[in-house]
Amino acid sequence: MLGKKLQDAFNEQMKHEFYSAYLYMAMAGYFQSEDLPGFASWMRVQALEEMTHGEKFFNFTCETAGRTNLLPIDGPQNNFSEPIEAFEVGLQHEKFVTSSINNLMNMAGKEKNYAAQIFLQWFVTEQIEEESSFSLILKKLQRIAGDSRGLMMLDQELGQRVFVPPPAGNTIAVSA
Ligand code: FEO
Repeated sequence: MLGKKLQDAFNEQMKHEFYSAYLYMAMAGYFQSEDLPGFASWMRVQALEEMTHGEKFFNFTCETAGRTNLLPIDGPQNNFSEPIEAFEVGLQHEKFVTSSINNLMNMAGKEKNYAAQIFLQWFVTEQIEEESSFSLILKKLQRIAGDSRGLMMLDQELGQRVFVPPPAGNTIAVSA
């Protein structure tokens, strides 16, 4: 079971993950309005992933006899000056999430909560991938620098992304 401080922090993290889904859906709407369906699709897949991240915290709390507390979620940024700004905002957000996960890992260490540490390990690794994917696309956008043909090609590339649910375990622990 999580200690009170760690439980509160887990609920806070659950909010960050669900907020991430909200933010990336807002970006999907922006890209759709810019006639960039590949970018929009990539963001929708990202939002689906974030929902599974939030659900992992929900399930872990339930499975360890804790108490979930769904906190209010702020409205995300909906408008961006250009595609590159959306990915800059996304990368900054992922860096924030990484520091938040690292903080949880420190707290779990102080509580000697080994189950929480093992659970959080998945997120530590996941955040490397999250930052890396935003950073990579950001670099591509910087290289394209306003070239519309390059933007169309990148749109096609990003449209290939498909949603792959994360491995089982603290994902959907609903039993009949
Ligand atoms: Fe769930 Fe993108 O952090």
